[in-house]
Amino acid sequence: MSVVFDRKAGEIGGDGWNLMDTQERSKCSGRSRGLVWYIGTAACLGLLYLLLLVVILSYVVNNDKATSPQGTDQLQFFTLGQTECENLTLQWIQLQKRYNKLSESTQQLQTMFSSKNAELDAIRDERDQLKMDTRNLTKEMENLTLQGIQLQKRYNKLSESTQQLQTMFSSKNAELDAIRDERDQLKMDTRNLTKEMELLQSRFNTVVTMRDELQEEVKRLNLNRTEKLCPDDWKKYNNKCYYVSAQRVSKSWDKSKKDCEDRGAHLAIINSRDEQDFVSKFYDRTWIGLSDKDLEGHWKWVDGTDLVGDGYWQEGEPNNDRNIEHCAEVSRKGGGWNDMPCSERLSWVCNLPL
Ligand code: BGC
Ligand code: CA
Repeated sequence: MSVVFDRKAGEIGGDGWNLMDTQERSKCSGRSRGLVWYIGTAACLGLLYLLLLVVILSYVVNNDKATSPQGTDQLQFFTLGQTECENLTLQWIQLQKRYNKLSESTQQLQTMFSSKNAELDAIRDERDQLKMDTRNLTKEMENLTLQGIQLQKRYNKLSESTQQLQTMFSSKNAELDAIRDERDQLKMDTRNLTKEMELLQSRFNTVVTMRDELQEEVKRLNLNRTEKLCPDDWKKYNNKCYYVSAQRVSKSWDKSKKDCEDRGAHLAIINSRDEQDFVSKFYDRTWIGLSDKDLEGHWKWVDGTDLVGDGYWQEGEPNNDRNIEHCAEVSRKGGGWNDMPCSERLSWVCNLPL
């Protein structure tokens, strides 16, 4: 009979043990203590059986010595001891089997424990990682929340701007529609005007042709007229007849004008430098048919037409001296026109186109 202790099964403090943390160790040490107690109990029981066997055997031997003459009793006792011993051996074997099973379970538990330990470590790592991830996610979430608030503000501003733009757009659209309508109307007007203009152009061309024809006719008639003579005592110069007032007779500008009109003419209207020289050569000072009586500075001929261009004023004239000069004279000495009080009595010249 032999008791074989499985060494590995007893190595509760192996590598797996060292891998555990204090808490796990305290948990497992409880389980291990139970296991050790169980093994110890089994070992004690075994020893007790052995001791009992030794006691029985020594008792048998001593009794045998004491009762050697009675060999049969001794044999019976020995047989009983042997049976007992065999029973004990059987029990020991069963105990050994149980121990072996227990060792296997312990090994399995150890393996499971190591595996669970590794799993626990992995889960712990995973948990730590998750914690870190959670922290990061929390920070990220906070950042995102801030960004979200900012984005919301921006969105609100953008919405306001969009609304304003929408309003402006609608207004501009209405404006555009109005302008478009106006443009269409203008296009239509332009088309009508173009047609009208074409019509007018055509009429204008006709009128121009007629004018040219008339001008030709006028030239022809003028040619005829140059053949004509001015009245007696009138002077002819460049297709115009001139009446020059008599010597030593002088009149105011209005009376001079009236005299010309009575003669079927008008106070001299001068259209060229030549004519100006012609009119000025008869007397020192001579009325011509130019005045600004209606409006100061607005010089008009007696036929109602405005003075065109600068005229032939003397240097520094017209000066409206003493604010009473509204009628124009020609001065032989001065070589040009001068404004004078209309009441002044001067010679005068009338003229009339032929
Ligand atoms: C002035 C003229 C003025 C005239 C009146 C002259 O001395 O130069 O401007 O019309 O006097 O008599
Ligand atoms: Ca003057």
